[in-house]
Amino acid sequence: MTVIIGVLALQGAFFEHIQHFKRCIDEHNYANIDIIPVRNEIDLYKCDSLVIPGGESTSMSLIAQRTGLFEHLYNFVHDPSKTIWGTCAGLIFLSKELSSGSELVKTLKLVEIRVKRNAFGRQTHSFTKDCNFSSFIPGCSEFPAVFIRAPVIEKVLDSKKVDILYTLAAENSHDLPLIVAARQNKNILVTSFHPELADDDIRFHNWFIQEFVLPYSQK
Ligand SMILES: *[C@@H]1O[C@H](CO)[C@@H](O)[C@H](O)[C@H]1NC(C)=O
Repeated sequence: MTVIIGVLALQGAFFEHIQHFKRCIDEHNYANIDIIPVRNEIDLYKCDSLVIPGGESTSMSLIAQRTGLFEHLYNFVHDPSKTIWGTCAGLIFLSKELSSGSELVKTLKLVEIRVKRNAFGRQTHSFTKDCNFSSFIPGCSEFPAVFIRAPVIEKVLDSKKVDILYTLAAENSHDLPLIVAARQNKNILVTSFHPELADDDIRFHNWFIQEFVLPYSQK
């Protein structure tokens, strides 16, 4: 049986995700995984797993509503047999609450978090930071995490469901650490940053396959 990972291809950095997953398949010889762009509900319902890429959350949500895909996405991501990963705008789109702008972005209300958009301010809106993810991805230190007008998770609304995976220190040491990666239940991952923009580094995508896609699809 082939496991299908779909990448939502309405808007944003979907091509880079597809390229990273294709490299994982080549380098790790996954014989039974296929990657497809998702543009409509026919594509969507072929998938076992869905990645919602970075881009512009307002546009992504509007396009989904205008094309009639929103309801299908809502049903798909709320199905506990699917694995889901949202990066940057994808994190915003999956979240339950936004600290502001909720009248602009209708979200899928899946992940029990409150998200602040453009959380790093204008000065530092884009940066790359070497992160040590080895506490949750074995051996993955010095991963070049790319943040572009990145959101942060301001609050976990249900700590029974959501585990914080990674935080960055706030600029002001009196402030709380900034949550930039989290997992809900076993099957949902959200990241503020863009692992698909780490040029030659497929470790994050490979971990998603190993830790989320394959265990779930073999049930
Ligand atoms: C990364 O963090 C782990 C603990 O989670 C630590 O053992 C390791 O030394 C760190 N690696 C680097 C390169 O800082």
